[in-house]
Amino acid sequence: MPSEAVQYQRRNQVGFLLIDYPPVNVLGASVRAGLARTLAAALADASVRAIVIACAGKTFSAGADIGEFDGPMAEPTLQAVFASIEASSKPIVAALHGMALGGGVELALACHYRVATADAKLGLPEITLGLIPGAGGTQRLPRVIGAAAALDMIVSGAPVDAAAASKLRLVDAVVDGDLLLGAQRFCEQLIEQGAKPRPTGSRPVEVSGFDAPGIAAIVSKHSRALKGRTTQQLALEAVTAATQSDFDAGLGIERRIADRSIASMESKALRHLFFAERQVAKVPGVAMDSSKALIARVAIIGAGTMGSGIATACADAGMAVTLIDSHADGIERGLGLIASNYESSVARGRLTHEEAARRRGRIVDSLELGAAAEADVVIEAVFEDLALKQSILSKIASLTPASTLLASNTSTLSIAELSRPCRDPQRVVGLHFFSPAHVMKLLEIVRSPSTDPAALGRALALAKQLKKIGVVAGDAFGFIGNKMMLDGYWREAEQLMLEGATPEQVDSAMESFGFAMGPARVNDLGGTDVGTKTRIELFKRETRPDPYFVIADALTAMNRLGQKTLAGFYRYRSGERQALPDDEVIELIAKFAADRGIARRSIETSEIVERCLLQLINVGAQVLEAGIAMRAADIDVVWVHGYGFPRHLGGPMFHADSLGLKHVLDRIEYYGARMKSRDDYWRPAPLLETLAQQGRSFASWDSERAA
Ligand code: NAI
Repeated sequence: MPSEAVQYQRRNQVGFLLIDYPPVNVLGASVRAGLARTLAAALADASVRAIVIACAGKTFSAGADIGEFDGPMAEPTLQAVFASIEASSKPIVAALHGMALGGGVELALACHYRVATADAKLGLPEITLGLIPGAGGTQRLPRVIGAAAALDMIVSGAPVDAAAASKLRLVDAVVDGDLLLGAQRFCEQLIEQGAKPRPTGSRPVEVSGFDAPGIAAIVSKHSRALKGRTTQQLALEAVTAATQSDFDAGLGIERRIADRSIASMESKALRHLFFAERQVAKVPGVAMDSSKALIARVAIIGAGTMGSGIATACADAGMAVTLIDSHADGIERGLGLIASNYESSVARGRLTHEEAARRRGRIVDSLELGAAAEADVVIEAVFEDLALKQSILSKIASLTPASTLLASNTSTLSIAELSRPCRDPQRVVGLHFFSPAHVMKLLEIVRSPSTDPAALGRALALAKQLKKIGVVAGDAFGFIGNKMMLDGYWREAEQLMLEGATPEQVDSAMESFGFAMGPARVNDLGGTDVGTKTRIELFKRETRPDPYFVIADALTAMNRLGQKTLAGFYRYRSGERQALPDDEVIELIAKFAADRGIARRSIETSEIVERCLLQLINVGAQVLEAGIAMRAADIDVVWVHGYGFPRHLGGPMFHADSLGLKHVLDRIEYYGARMKSRDDYWRPAPLLETLAQQGRSFASWDSERAA
């Protein structure tokens, strides 16, 4: 018989309700029913004078079951269970350890007292999913820590540690040693003092600091993280209700606001990504067993920008790293980059000196390829040169056993071509890291037709060990992300410039939509030459009709490479990053437009945003149909984590679904008709056409294929 999700025990005069629902004690239906049952038992037990609610395993409760959000919650609801805890005639103490999150904190708030271990953390992360705490959190938290601190905690979404929680009086005592014993002692003191239950709902709300300037300061503190978001307004409404209404009325208001948050597109988008990020590692036919075979040793060949970033990422993950370069000055530069990565982590307070030194100490260097022989994984990041990469991979293949994973960090070359000379190409994958590789969370894992499932499983395990999000992509030019960027988004951005928009207008338009940075600024940051080199490789493999990146390529030819040469799409003052509009560029663009007979006009922001997005979606549909991405949701993950697509809009494919694919198709056809000469770019992707005509969505396509 499966053990109960909540067990009841008694030690002397204290009853324990112990939630044991691995892995993280979410408050699903069986836990709620178990709490109701064991609470009744403790109340009925005449020898019990105080009650402890605690969790088994590594952590207190991680909150509600997200899977239940879209339908009505099965009885008993969280609200009902919390109400009966609060109404208990015997004092109830929550005993917290590990992470208490969301509904876990709301459970603790429904208790009369809270104790915690020193390493416990308490947080209300609902806002990261576009939600407000909906099980009394917005009404009880202000009654425990004051309205201003409560708003801050709800809007930040970040957890506080036990020391901070104790300062806020969110926990009444921090327990040293065994938590259950500490909680029992706390209860015995309560019993001795004759302490009564202290229902949170009956406590007054402290409102100091919760006035217009105080609220504005709290909201502005989080404004960067919440750019374009609306949930913080809902949180404010709910906390305000706690200061203005009685407790029961406040709970009713919270319920209605929480329902609005659940129904909002913002929350749907954020929850879509939450699931998409967890689903990416699931690849049919591929088992990722990261627990069995931890990757301990990695060799990286090429100590350049990427190689040194990848080495830093691997050392951060605890791996022993061998960094190999053919030139001593290459090694020197790479080690210098690694040192500066760690120096900046220390300067920003992210790492202590000692920890940085420990990580740095995991990296050794070598001028010999043979130093890679013992590695579990070898990643080459040498110059983007097919023959060079082929020769390195085949040498490494002959130096290492068949179990070693071989990878290339190429951004443009075909993995099938690269691995052809290897004696066992089935163990070669692409690992497309994004720059800076120790910071960016995205990793495109490229499989060629000969890559075998075991190699892919190993690559997925590596991504997980590096705490990156590994998305599997097909072996086509630009993989998922760069293909959509080059053929869709950036190309359209240039076209808009030729038709009359300035680089600044295009950037501001896309930034107002929510992109972290507009396309011209991104080009200047990364270097216009990087894109130009990529396109040279592209045109070796596929042809494109004109006009295709005339502006960026002309800037490269003029040595206007972006920030590094103080001129690109913009001008820069030495030592500054601020992009200054440059008439020379505007004139250059106007000349190109005239040469091509393009009539220039003023273009509305809405048209810029719409056309860039439509192109992104249309090329996304091509990528999906060609099997380069397995799921539309994978594309969303790539664009949010690798290209700065606004998270609260869920990614380009989710955004297309939210606009409605019929509308998307209509608009593509509209622009197609308006721009007949360029109909190649405005020809709807057949998959988009089919789905739109059937009244379907990309999400439905994903679910159909998953079934
Ligand atoms: P880089 O020019 O900074 O570094 C290349 C390094 O490889 C140099 O240190 C060079 O000495 C070394 N090298 C050359 N031949 C070698 C050999 N035979 N044996 C050992 N080492 C050798 O280049 P970067 O930017 O780091 O790019 C490396 C790779 O990563 C390229 O394939 C590039 O396409 C790819 N990539 C670049 C991204 C970027 O943003 N820069 C992003 C994703 C991939």
